[in-house]
Amino acid sequence: MTLAAIVAHDPNLVIGKDGELPWHYSEDLKYFKKITTGHPIIMGRVVFEEINEKPLPGRENVVLSRSRDYDHVPTFSSIDKALDHVEGEEIAFVIGGAEIYKQLLPQVDKLFVTEIHKSHDGDTYFPEYRDQISSVWKEIKRDRHPEFSFVVYERVKK
Ligand SMILES: NC(=O)c1ccc[n+]([C@@H]2O[C@H](COP(=O)([O-])OP(=O)(O)OC[C@H]3O[C@@H](n4cnc5c(N)ncnc54)[C@H](OP(=O)(O)O)[C@@H]3O)[C@@H](O)[C@H]2O)c1
Repeated sequence: MTLAAIVAHDPNLVIGKDGELPWHYSEDLKYFKKITTGHPIIMGRVVFEEINEKPLPGRENVVLSRSRDYDHVPTFSSIDKALDHVEGEEIAFVIGGAEIYKQLLPQVDKLFVTEIHKSHDGDTYFPEYRDQISSVWKEIKRDRHPEFSFVVYERVKK
C-alpha cells in the first residue's frame, strides 16, 4: 500500500488558524476531491469536527481519536490500528491535521502539496520537510497557478 499525505501550506508552512483553513481556494478543494476520491482518508478528530462529523463522500473516512468513538465512521485510538485497517488498499491518504501529519509523515511515501503563494496568519503548521527535498523527497510534478502550485513528491529514502 502507498501511504500518501495531502496538504495545503503557505510559505511558512501554516496550515490552519482557529481550527479552520486560513484561506478558501475552490480550485484546491476540487483538487483534493479529485485526488482522494475512491480511497481511504485518515484524519484527526479535530479535522473530523471541522467537517461537522459528516464523512466526506466517496471515500472511507477513518478517524483517529482517544476521546471519541464514532458509530458512523471507523475510529481508532492509535496510528497502528488505523494503518492496519487500511492495509491492503492501493493507496490511503493522510489528510491532517497538524498532529496527525507530524506523527505519520515519517511513514508517508508520497506527498501531495498545494503551495499557497501568499503568507497567511496561522497557529497550526505542517512539519518542516523542505530541508529534506533532494535527500528524502523527489519532486515528480509541479503545476503552477497564479495563487498556488500543485506539487507532488515521492520519498526516495526512508
Ligand atoms: N491546510 C491543510 O491542508 C490542512 C489539512 C488538515 C487540517 N488543517 C488544519 O489543521 C488544524 C487541525 O489540526 P490539529 O493538529 O489541531 O488536529 P488534528 O490533527 O486534526 O486532530 C488532533 C486529534 O487527533 C487525535 N489524535 C492525535 N494523535 C492520535 C493518535 N496517535 N491516536 C489516536 N488519536 C490521535 C486526538 O483526538 P482526541 O483529543 O479525541 O483524543 C487529537 O486531539 C485545523 O486548523 C485545520 O484547518 C489544515
